Amino acid sequence: MTATALDQKVKAPPAPAIEVQNIVKRYGTFEAVKGVSFSVADGEIFGLLGPNGAGKSTLIRMMTTLVPITSGKAIVAGHDVAIDPDDVRRMIGVIPQALTSDPDLTVEENLSIYAKLYSVGKAEREHNINDVLEAVDLVKWRGAQVKTLSGGMRRRVEIARGLVHNPQIFFLDEPTTGLDPVSRIAVWEMLDNLRKRRKLTMLLTTHYMEEADKLCDRIAIVDHGNLVALGTPIELKRSVPGANVVEVHFDRETPEWKARLEALDGVTSVQAESAGFYRVLTSSGSKTTMQLVELAASLGETLTSLSVQNTTLDDVFVHYTGRQLRDEQVKPPVFTLPPRPGAQP
Ligand SMILES: Nc1ncnc2c1ncn2[C@@H]1O[C@H](COP(=O)(O)OP(=O)(O)O)[C@@H](O)[C@H]1O
Ligand SMILES: [Mg+2]
Repeated sequence: MTATALDQKVKAPPAPAIEVQNIVKRYGTFEAVKGVSFSVADGEIFGLLGPNGAGKSTLIRMMTTLVPITSGKAIVAGHDVAIDPDDVRRMIGVIPQALTSDPDLTVEENLSIYAKLYSVGKAEREHNINDVLEAVDLVKWRGAQVKTLSGGMRRRVEIARGLVHNPQIFFLDEPTTGLDPVSRIAVWEMLDNLRKRRKLTMLLTTHYMEEADKLCDRIAIVDHGNLVALGTPIELKRSVPGANVVEVHFDRETPEWKARLEALDGVTSVQAESAGFYRVLTSSGSKTTMQLVELAASLGETLTSLSVQNTTLDDVFVHYTGRQLRDEQVKPPVFTLPPRPGAQP
């Protein structure tokens, strides 16, 4: 090989684990995914963040061969999903959104059946099952029927099951939706450990900003079937004008405060949240806070609370879509009870 050929070989970027080009999914006349492109590097944890109905599951189903692609292309582990679906399936592990482990079987039986489906030989099967059970911290529970486990543990069984055939690329659709906060953090820690232990590329979907922020190397924000922003959590937050959010409560409502806050150094926007409560985006939390405190003192106004935070992915979502991600989450229904017969009004 000549020096130049060798240089070229060294410089050639490694092939991405996943490459999606202008991918579209139509159900009848409804376009659920409207021409999305991104690529995921080998070993990366990549997040699709968006509200319910954004098209996250549809994207995962296309990449994992579960629904046909209407147009565009998806290359997974070097194979075109539409041309070589079997090759793709051998390289991937998939955790669907719904819980799919068999509740009447034990943890180990669930894993074993899956490994057999993937034709993993006996010796390798035993080794892999031990290995993944250790990774998800369920060794002690291998003989327990899945229906006796908590939701968080059951999720971990499914994560173990998705890895039992040693896939290179792991797709997880809303891995922590429906879990309590403690179980959610346990799943995050486990996924983080998994990526340290084995060479694994992960693509996960979520509508939890904290989850995307904590776990993902890069995040694609999706909304109504479109990709609206893509970057590392830090890049996304930097792309929003204002680096900090200052939240301030005054002891009484004074309408002039909105304009006063807007005039402080570094302030890029001010939202009046409720009477006497403002959310201020600023490029310098410390400067704005100092000026604000001085101004309030000189006017004889009292602050009841003041906090400075970094911008969150929620601010990023608002910036790109004009709506809060939190608003989109399913709100519990409000029930009004009919009056009891004979009750006093
Ligand atoms: N099989 C289907 N037939 C018709 N519409 C569908 C089907 N699956 C999903 N959709 C629609 O496509 C949109 C995206 O759905 P989905 O990918 O499940 O979103 P997400 O996972 O982000 O919540 C939604 O409006 C949903 O109603
Ligand atoms: Mg979904």
